[in-house]
Amino acid sequence: MTYEFTTEDLKEIEKIKSRYPEVKPATLPVLWIAQNRFGHVDPDVQKLVAATLDLPEAHVHGVATFYTQYYKEKKGKYVLDVCTCLSCQLCGGYDMLHYLEEKLGIKTGETSNDGMFTLNQVECLGACGYAPMLQITNDKYVNNLTPEKIDKLVDSLKKGEEPSYEKMEMPLRKNN
Ligand code: FES
Repeated sequence: MTYEFTTEDLKEIEKIKSRYPEVKPATLPVLWIAQNRFGHVDPDVQKLVAATLDLPEAHVHGVATFYTQYYKEKKGKYVLDVCTCLSCQLCGGYDMLHYLEEKLGIKTGETSNDGMFTLNQVECLGACGYAPMLQITNDKYVNNLTPEKIDKLVDSLKKGEEPSYEKMEMPLRKNN
């Protein structure tokens, strides 16, 4: 598949490049722009990033594959990362993961047929005091999970509504 950055993306990329004495450090933020634009950084998107920055494809591939936050394949509209590390595990992280598997009709690592949700099991996300928790698409955290909270979250996302994160108890990260 052929991918192209928008004019707006290219302007942003030029701005990023101007911050550094050489182009390599721009790889991370430009991959991020690419992921926000296309939803993933599969090998074709990595090629686009390499061509845009005039860097070897192997370098961009190395960076993209080093970080789990970059999706190397197409994912669901929402990627739910459920933490099952120690604190979350002790507070029911696996129960929440299995509850989501049942609710979404998928196994961990899979994407729902409607393309809405990808479910992942992840290591500690640094919100151990709010266990069990999950992260939505590399961004917002939903803390102190319960089945009821998961129902509310999934229903809101399915309707295309941003859930009320205030009510989801998310003291760590807020976008606005
Ligand atoms: S153990 Fe889950 S956020 Fe740290």
